[in-house]
Amino acid sequence: MRVALLPGDGIGPEVIAEARRVLDALGLDLTYEEALVGGAAYKATGHPLPSDTLEVAKRADAILFGAVGDPDCDALERHLRPEQAILGLRKELTLFANLRPAKLFPELADASALRPEVAGQIDMVIVRELNGDVYFGEKGMRKTTDGKREGYDVMSYDEDEVRRIARVGFETARARKGRLCSVDKANVLETSQLWRDVVIETAAEYPEIALSHMYVDNAAMQLVRNPGQFDVIVTGNLFGDILSDQASMCAGSIGMLPSASLDANQKGLYEPIHGSAPDIAGQGKANPLATILSAAMLLRYSLAQPQAADRIEAAVARALAAGARSPDLGGTMSTNQMGDAVLAALT
Ligand code: IPM
Ligand code: MG
Repeated sequence: MRVALLPGDGIGPEVIAEARRVLDALGLDLTYEEALVGGAAYKATGHPLPSDTLEVAKRADAILFGAVGDPDCDALERHLRPEQAILGLRKELTLFANLRPAKLFPELADASALRPEVAGQIDMVIVRELNGDVYFGEKGMRKTTDGKREGYDVMSYDEDEVRRIARVGFETARARKGRLCSVDKANVLETSQLWRDVVIETAAEYPEIALSHMYVDNAAMQLVRNPGQFDVIVTGNLFGDILSDQASMCAGSIGMLPSASLDANQKGLYEPIHGSAPDIAGQGKANPLATILSAAMLLRYSLAQPQAADRIEAAVARALAAGARSPDLGGTMSTNQMGDAVLAALT
């Protein structure tokens, strides 16, 4: 089983190192290939997603990804910026289905931005479309006829793109509590009207799933008002990006949420939903649990190792129960000590 390790920028290398220690402790037959990505790759090779890195990702059975983003690179032309590496990997490998589970570990009720009794209800999966939307539409800078600068990004989805992610949403709901909420902005956007129409058509294939629809502004409000109402949310690329950061804080910390980005054959890229956090990079302050939990998802979805995934998830829960807390969780433990705590809790 070949795993590509792409640590990237900022806190990426620190959190990937801890996840690798946990993977190594499981006694599985894994081989690793590591490659540069993001700002680190740009500085070394002149491109944020060098062809060598893309090859490493393509030949792996699964990819464990840290984070990209580097303030040194913010002034570069867009196609050379670190973020293009993750967008390029998602597109090149057709990783269209992004699963972002948000569940409150009971020990972290105090870390949530919500009251504990509200936060305690959180147990959802956000299914985010990852290959389309305003992220990948035509974009640019131009001059208006009266000489003003204008930036533009075209939002669009075709029906096949909506149908394939809708099916992932329905399937995810089927494996859970059977409730799917499709989030859009159909009161304003044509893209969203098509989204809603196609989700409703697709629902005919899943009569046992309770489907609802919600406008994205209302969804943002409901996520803090009553997050327990959500089982599975399916939504587009931009709305999913925003709502998943929000859900993470409701569930305690952005340092806790893993994600899986899957193609049609369960090949996947696994990454924490947080970014490269350059402000704390290299200081041992990052919480590695989101990346460790991403490694568990990797074992479950791409390497068919559900028991190993269970072991990691149970160890994270035990480490938290034993009091392991990084600064984002109100504690003082370093990245490495958090990794130690998970290792100590592995049975
Ligand atoms: C995420 C990130 C990325 C995104 C950035 C780094 C391009 O915010 O994975 O949520 O917007 O998708
Ligand atoms: Mg994001």
